[in-house]
Amino acid sequence: MTVASLGYVGLSMQDPSAWNEYGNNILGLMTAADSSAERVLLRMDDHPYRLFVEHGDEDKLISTGWEFADSGAFEAVIANMQAAGVDVHRGDAEGAALRCVTEYAVTVDPSGNPVEVYYGRTNLQDDFVSPLGVDSFVTGDMGMGHVVIPAPNQDQTHEFYKTAMGFGDSDELILPPPAEGAPEMRILFMHAANQRHHSLGLFNFPSPTGIVHMIFEVPDIDTVGACLDRANAADVPMMASLGRHENDNALSFYMFGPGGIGVEYGCEGKLIDYKNYQATKSTLGDIWGHDYAPPVTE
Ligand SMILES: [Fe+2]
Repeated sequence: MTVASLGYVGLSMQDPSAWNEYGNNILGLMTAADSSAERVLLRMDDHPYRLFVEHGDEDKLISTGWEFADSGAFEAVIANMQAAGVDVHRGDAEGAALRCVTEYAVTVDPSGNPVEVYYGRTNLQDDFVSPLGVDSFVTGDMGMGHVVIPAPNQDQTHEFYKTAMGFGDSDELILPPPAEGAPEMRILFMHAANQRHHSLGLFNFPSPTGIVHMIFEVPDIDTVGACLDRANAADVPMMASLGRHENDNALSFYMFGPGGIGVEYGCEGKLIDYKNYQATKSTLGDIWGHDYAPPVTE
């Protein structure tokens, strides 16, 4: 039993239309045909959507959808959660239809983050066509990308994802405290059953939006650069400058999407063969760049 990939992400947003516009005009995502003003559905590939943005009172992460290969793997993860004493609820047919999956279940991790598990997502027959001409996003078997989420209860949260969900360890990154007197920053990077270096990161600090960032990965640096130009032209607030990560080699920049959601846009993420992989420990986040801007406080 191992988690296959990150299938979808869901946000609650006071103004979902802001994400529709940002998704189309900055990221190059495609609005799904059955998207609505109350529930914006954004596509990256042949999935019915990879990001949904629902109308709500707060701007925050409300869902991470983790894909499992089949009914057997799905039942195994539920059994694992129950054995670990985790309260997991099976979704109904209506919820499954909304997610375009055969079956799903919901729970929260030990840091209070929302978690959904599912199998059997129905993919579309019509092609993904980016409104900005982005050729493709790096998805497929590797899922939609990765999320880094707040995990103040970090060790227990790590254990949950490892033991109950079947993630493997990729890298433990320790960075200096963000401010005098604060603890060190520690990010635990974990992989699913695909070649992406990490599908999940657990950060030992809280985040007001419930998410530290998610990545949209594209095939090449020119596509990253074009997005950076669009973001700058539209005065999208920047979170970190262009740079290259040490652990997954991704070349990327970070911005704040609508509602202050952290968005990484990058390319060249390393592909790993996990058969003989030894998890690493590192103290260097970046080979170059990624100068972090102070948080936006508007
Ligand atoms: Fe990232």
